[in-house]
Amino acid sequence: MPPVKKDYKKVTTNSLQEMKKKGEKISMLTAYDYTLARIVDGAGIDVILVGDSASNVMAGHETTLPITLDQMIYHASSVVRAVVRALVVVDMPFGSYQGNSIEALSSAIKIMKESGGHSIKLEGGSEIIESIERILTAGIPVMGHLGLTPQSIYKFGTYTVRAKEEEEAEKLLSDAKLLEQAGCFAIVLEKVPSTLAKKVAESIRIPVIGIGAGNNVDGQVLVLHDMLGMIQEFNPRFLRRYLNLSDEITSAVQNYVADVKSKDFPNEKEQY
Ligand code: KIV
Repeated sequence: MPPVKKDYKKVTTNSLQEMKKKGEKISMLTAYDYTLARIVDGAGIDVILVGDSASNVMAGHETTLPITLDQMIYHASSVVRAVVRALVVVDMPFGSYQGNSIEALSSAIKIMKESGGHSIKLEGGSEIIESIERILTAGIPVMGHLGLTPQSIYKFGTYTVRAKEEEEAEKLLSDAKLLEQAGCFAIVLEKVPSTLAKKVAESIRIPVIGIGAGNNVDGQVLVLHDMLGMIQEFNPRFLRRYLNLSDEITSAVQNYVADVKSKDFPNEKEQY
């Protein structure tokens, strides 16, 4: 395995832009708790996203909509306590920024103050540009999120690939340029055709980090629990599994249960 590049002592929004300039791909994963964030950071990841996918992965909700601002802050502050090197991006949850730009700014400030995160991410383009601009003027770095935006699931109706039609693809490209112009430091592009993702990445100077957007973008992001194989039921084409942790944990727990039942655990050396 090639060594993990750790050129950047602490990854910042500027380092990500330098990586794009140099053609070095950006690695990003989600984390929602101290223990896993510590492992992921120590392994050399560039960016940790405290995603609102915590709503699904940590709390078992069907969508990302129910998670609250305080719950996101709880997850983010646990991650921040673990991280030494990665840039921590915190998702703004549904309902915390869509109302108006003043509400958006006060939610973003609350996240930054109470979690210690380094930046925030929100979903959408022209519809929320005023909020993005207001947050940026307060000195808070913003990552955009275009393509499949799970907070709008009830508008789309499905989690299928977005922007296959020309009209939606054009809107997406113009939104990406708008986010760059406004001053976002990067954009997540979720589940869009790889040809469109390539065009977006080539049209703007800020990094485009893809999930289900092919290989011609500036970096990749996955949900940690998916790539570790902790959730068996979720099998989209874009997901590469690096472990089958669900099987590993099941077998460890079964062994423990058997050892307790058979009175094998604890043995003489495992007691006082
Ligand atoms: O919440 C999340 O995990 C995300 C990723 C899918 C990019 O937004």
